[in-house]
Amino acid sequence: MRKLIVGLFMLVLPTLGLAAGAGVVLDSMSPDHTNKASLQRGAAMFTNYCMGCHSTEYARYKRVADDLEIPVDLYEENLIFTGAKIGELMKIAMDPAMAADWFGTPPPDLTLVTRLRGESWVYSYLRGFYKDDSRPLGVNNVVFDNVGMPHVLVDLQGLCASKPTVGQKASVDPLSGLVRNGHVCQDYALEGSMSAAEFDGAMYDLTNFLSYMGDPVKVERERLGIFVLIFIAIFFVFAYLLNREYWKDVH
Ligand code: HEC
Repeated sequence: MRKLIVGLFMLVLPTLGLAAGAGVVLDSMSPDHTNKASLQRGAAMFTNYCMGCHSTEYARYKRVADDLEIPVDLYEENLIFTGAKIGELMKIAMDPAMAADWFGTPPPDLTLVTRLRGESWVYSYLRGFYKDDSRPLGVNNVVFDNVGMPHVLVDLQGLCASKPTVGQKASVDPLSGLVRNGHVCQDYALEGSMSAAEFDGAMYDLTNFLSYMGDPVKVERERLGIFVLIFIAIFFVFAYLLNREYWKDVH
């Protein structure tokens, strides 16, 4: 019995480690890979704002175009800037050695970033930049301390003057009736072109797209899974009857 308990404990141990790993409270984000419109907006955003520095070189453009139901000619015209062919891997031209020189560390490939960090981490990270003049690029991040990435979405979000309240639920002040922490950014050093709610929506789409990148067959797998379960259920009846037939004369 004691062995069993120790065994069970060992089994749960790694998951506890994962949960404790980040150490920062995050805003939760649950991806929806069936929401094609959201994934398409995320793909457009990723191509325009992120692919200058980050590749997703374990995926091919064609696969993304097919999965997201974007016509190939439209995709080639609007979402490939490197002159690559639609069948190629999503590499970028930036030289990692030079990038390491510029940013202190090269921008990592993002194909599997949501598998590594989790969707909630990425979603919180993208909304977690704030002004910090002590850093070389003038910004820091509440989720990733001393980050080497510039705040590339500053035109959209604006620049938070103080630490964004990532991971804190909105609440109503009982005296004034004002909403506290309604959005992550409480005061802006620079205004962006999007409202806080619009920016949250855009970051949801972008994270949703990165989540799809890390697990492109999720929808198909879950669809097939139902048929597999139905098959097993039907097969069980026959296996049970056959078993009864085999053992009926054994006493
Ligand atoms: C100007 C170049 C540049 C652009 C553009 C850029 N990044 Fe980054 N990004 C970096 C660098 C450099 C790092 C590494 C930071 C570090 O390790 O300190 C990074 C790190 C990250 C990480 C953390 C990866 C990890 O697991 O450590 C994520 C997630 C990320 N970027 C997402 C994005 C997204 C999404 C976009 C588009 C909105 C984007 N980046 C645009 C340079 C860039």
